[in-house]
Amino acid sequence: MRIPKPPVPNALKRRPPRPGSRPAGNGRAAAAAAADKELRRQEALEQAAEVPISVVGWLDERTGASPFLRAMLYRKTPRGTNWYYTLGSATLFAFLSQAVTGVFLAMYYDPSPSNAYNSVRHIINEVWLGELVRGMHRWGATVMVVLIFLHMGRTFFFGAYKYPRELNWVVGVVLLILTMAMAFTGYLLPFDQRSFWATVVGVNINASGPLLGPYLADFLRAGPEFTATTLSRFYAIHMLLIPGLIAALIGAHLYLVVKLGTTAPPWLKAEKRRELAREEI
Ligand code: HEM
Repeated sequence: MRIPKPPVPNALKRRPPRPGSRPAGNGRAAAAAAADKELRRQEALEQAAEVPISVVGWLDERTGASPFLRAMLYRKTPRGTNWYYTLGSATLFAFLSQAVTGVFLAMYYDPSPSNAYNSVRHIINEVWLGELVRGMHRWGATVMVVLIFLHMGRTFFFGAYKYPRELNWVVGVVLLILTMAMAFTGYLLPFDQRSFWATVVGVNINASGPLLGPYLADFLRAGPEFTATTLSRFYAIHMLLIPGLIAALIGAHLYLVVKLGTTAPPWLKAEKRRELAREEI
């Protein structure tokens, strides 16, 4: 289906000549030339106005995106959908903000034990808008953790973990673990006293876990001791491994949300179908 043309905006419409603005004298040729020029200007503007439609149409013809987008944007939502349903999208926004600010921080951060602390000081004190971007990333991490818990609480209290959405709940649990791992690995990166010792404590807590605990701690430390490799390992996990996994799982999570639809609030009773109601009478 072709997307209909949008109306031509007023600013692009041809204006009628002002009274008295016609060319002086009987210069018919001059008037014709002016009219011709105006006509060509009008045509050029109309062609320019069609460019976005042609580009969208070109893309749509080759990707078949419009049926997908229509189904996505006009899908039905249960009656009673409320602000609590925005917590998932808010978590998604927090993740995207972390990804964007993280890219800019990675341009200046140096994950070596001798330079990590100073590179963060450099970002805060000297890089243009560095303090803002670093602050957004640091506080954004907390915001994402708070939002993911609120979103999980919403889905729990609305019973959204029940059939047929169990798999989406499980995907969500993995997302929660990955988000916590993201916060944990990021905490070491400023490499000041607090982040260093907090990470030592955190890794030791991991080591005390049953069976897998000691192996997990060795993996995180990159050996039995904290070394220079520990910092680069945390950095690689923090900025490559986990964000990649989170992005892929968010894709699966949202696919399931769109496929299964969202759960109605628990205080809404299912409406009886008309014919059933009539049978009861
Ligand atoms: C990065 C983390 C996450 C993102 C970006 C995310 C995003 C979303 C979005 C946008 C929705 C649809 C709208 C809504 O209900 O808010 C949703 C639904 C859902 N999410 Fe998440 N989510 C995340 C983590 C989690 C976690 C940790 C759980 C639970 C352990 C979870 C379980 C669910 C369930 C069961 C639904 C279906 C809700 C329903 O049917 O009403 N999600 N998620």
